[in-house]
Amino acid sequence: MIKNYLHSTCKIFLFVFTLISVSFSAYSQEIPKEPAAISAGKQIFDSNCKACHRVHQKLVGPALAGVYDRAPSIDWIKSFVKNSSAVIASGDAYAVNLFNEYNKTTMTSFSSFKDQDIMNVLAYIQDETIKGPGEQPGQKQKVVDGPKEEGVPATYLNVLLVGMIVILILLVVILAFLVSSLKRFLDQKALTEEEKEVVHSPITAGTIASSRGFIFVVAFLVGALGFKAVINGLYSVGIQQGYAPKQPIAFSHKIHAGQYEIDCKYCHVGVMKGKSATIPSVNICMNCHNQIKSGTTTGEGEIAKIVRAYNENRPIEWVRIHNLPDLAYFNHAQHVNVAGVECQTCHGPVQEMDVVRQHSLLTMGWCIDCHRKTDVNTKGNAYYDKLVELHNAKSKGNMKVENIGGLECSKCHY
Ligand code: HEC
Ligand code: HEC
Ligand code: HEC
Ligand code: HEC
Ligand code: HEC
Ligand code: HEC
Repeated sequence: MIKNYLHSTCKIFLFVFTLISVSFSAYSQEIPKEPAAISAGKQIFDSNCKACHRVHQKLVGPALAGVYDRAPSIDWIKSFVKNSSAVIASGDAYAVNLFNEYNKTTMTSFSSFKDQDIMNVLAYIQDETIKGPGEQPGQKQKVVDGPKEEGVPATYLNVLLVGMIVILILLVVILAFLVSSLKRFLDQKALTEEEKEVVHSPITAGTIASSRGFIFVVAFLVGALGFKAVINGLYSVGIQQGYAPKQPIAFSHKIHAGQYEIDCKYCHVGVMKGKSATIPSVNICMNCHNQIKSGTTTGEGEIAKIVRAYNENRPIEWVRIHNLPDLAYFNHAQHVNVAGVECQTCHGPVQEMDVVRQHSLLTMGWCIDCHRKTDVNTKGNAYYDKLVELHNAKSKGNMKVENIGGLECSKCHY
């Protein structure tokens, strides 16, 4: 009897204890609302999740608005983000359903994330959920920003052209007026027959074309244009600036890197570590395109080519655009990772290009010019401390790439 009694008190105790601990843990699981947490969360979201998720829009993964209410628990979200495959493998019904709904697309594991990181991401998602879908950061703005930069010079040129045409018409009108008043003036004079004939001789295309002034101007223009063409031809031997070949699949950087803001490094994985930036393999495309089967501008045809290549285990044969001759050595990691140079400095606004084109000259002069002008990024790089000291002892001004040997032939030539 007493034993039974003790047993049930134990049970009650246990129950109360669990209740307290659950409510306590629920309390500690409160999604933070501080601006600091939200902005930290935005940063993590932008660099890790944005390739596949939006808050208010389904992309590769679900729209994440309100996910903290819909998912089984905050703890579930933490485990799923850290290792979604493990949660799915455990047979968790919610996870398995979701996985099937998303055509068995495996979400990247973020095993190095701390709980706090994930809570910050949720803080950002909650903040965006409350704000509503009205403003989708980046997406619309980027597209509007894009053409503006290229559009300004074009409109500028148009205005210039219209202005010049107006001035030309004005000149013709003034000239016609002058001619007719001159004729009237001369008619009042007593002129010989011969003189009258000259005054009234009609101005025709024939008389203009046979005039000496006209022949001279035409000869000069033809000569100048020919000369310019020859010079341009000579300068562009071996130079491919503007080269934009047709690719086997109509892949658009404007859609991927511009509109959807997928990080360059998500696809060009070599860029921080090695010499080559690398072109993404079919597998990287399939991370998203086993889910996204059709595009808004090209329909299903172009994406079907990716799936076909994947199924046949065959690489896509992209046409190479940038190509230094073998005698020159260029290393991406040195420039992007060590020096912190933006891709766009050398490759131009790739995120606005439907078809990539070569933006820079890629000549030796181009490399050297930048090495003369650019400061070495020495911040937080102990390797440079000694060099900076030596440099400052000898000369004023910041340490440029040329000061660390950036103009030595052997640095760029094997
Ligand atoms: C490679 C694409 C990809 C990336 C990157 C990615 N996810 Fe996912 N995520 C998915 C897919 C796909 C699903 C649907 C479930 C499945 O297929 O595994 C999903 C599901 C989720 C879910 C569950 C959604 C729900 O409706 O319950 C959460 C939460 C989530 N992701 C959070 C994140 C966070 C946070 C990040 C960044 C730290 C992230 N994901 C990065 C693809 C991705
Ligand atoms: C979704 C994947 C993806 C993303 C994101 C992406 N690229 Fe690319 N990139 C490709 C593919 C595929 C090619 C080859 C086809 C082509 O040239 O269009 C390529 C080609 C290029 C080339 C030309 C390579 C050559 O042949 O010389 C440059 C330069 C480039 N990308 C720069 C960038 C920059 C800069 C960004 C970020 C603003 C970026 N890419 C983002 C997939 C991507
Ligand atoms: C991180 C996700 C992601 C990756 C990786 C990715 N794509 Fe896409 N891709 C998208 C999205 C989102 C769209 C837009 C679909 C739409 O137009 O609605 C798209 C659209 C396309 C389209 C159709 C464009 C149109 O407007 O018709 C093509 C072609 C394409 N991608 C090729 C590729 C290739 C090739 C790769 C690999 C080098 C690749 N994608 C990698 C997300 C991705
Ligand atoms: C300092 C100038 C510079 C910067 C910065 C730079 N690139 Fe390049 N990139 C080049 C040159 C030069 C080549 C040609 C290399 C060759 O032919 O060996 C090239 C080639 C490429 C290629 C073709 C494949 C290869 O590696 O040869 C891709 C893709 C590419 N760059 C992407 C990027 C991306 C993405 C970034 C930013 C993360 C970037 N680049 C930053 C100068 C630059
Ligand atoms: C946008 C400017 C820029 C352009 C263009 C550029 N570089 Fe550089 N380069 C740098 C900077 C900055 C560094 C210093 C990196 C560091 O801190 O180690 C550097 C360093 C180097 C180094 C190492 C020098 C040393 O002493 O360690 C080599 C080699 C090099 N660049 C080759 C090239 C070649 C080849 C090209 C042309 C195809 C080129 N670079 C174009 C900015 C540029
Ligand atoms: C910052 C990198 C860099 C440095 C330093 C450099 N070069 Fe170059 N050089 C290049 C690149 C890149 C090319 C290829 C340019 C092209 O294809 O138009 C080149 C091309 C050349 C060529 C032409 C080869 C041909 O096929 O036309 C010669 C010759 C040459 N370099 C000699 C030198 C000498 C000598 C030095 C030292 C005084 C030197 N270079 C220093 C980057 C460099």
